[in-house]
Amino acid sequence: MYKELALAAVKARGAAYAPYSGFKVGAALLAADGRVFTGCNIENSAFSPTVCAERVALFKAVSEGVREFKAIAVAGGKDGVVTTAPCGVCRQALAEFCGAEFKVLLVSCAEGRYEETALGKLLPCAFTEKDIRG
Ligand code: THU
Repeated sequence: MYKELALAAVKARGAAYAPYSGFKVGAALLAADGRVFTGCNIENSAFSPTVCAERVALFKAVSEGVREFKAIAVAGGKDGVVTTAPCGVCRQALAEFCGAEFKVLLVSCAEGRYEETALGKLLPCAFTEKDIRG
């Protein structure tokens, strides 16, 4: 069902700039209006400015005024066979705009298959707007 989105993540991985870790990641974020925003990880010699593929895709979308999403596909890893789940920071960034049902597809680039999970499973008890407003 999300095969196209999975393939978009694999393609986005091609632009990854990861000379330090060699760990290339691509992401493809499906908006509620059907648009797809892609991202790749972008590393930095000072390390901490490094950004993950998922946040690049998310911030590209939000910066274009898009805030409603259905799913994200993530394709990453040194060999691209083993699937990669979004890091904790990316889970939190996604939780700002996406609910527990938001789909997360973990793509194996080499094998072309993906596992489907949900943000609520990856980040239970997310800290959200509700918590900060009291
Ligand atoms: N990375 C991502 O792009 N997404 C993740 O969910 C996990 C980690 C990147 C950051 C860094 O460039 C490299 O993978 C190794 O951590």
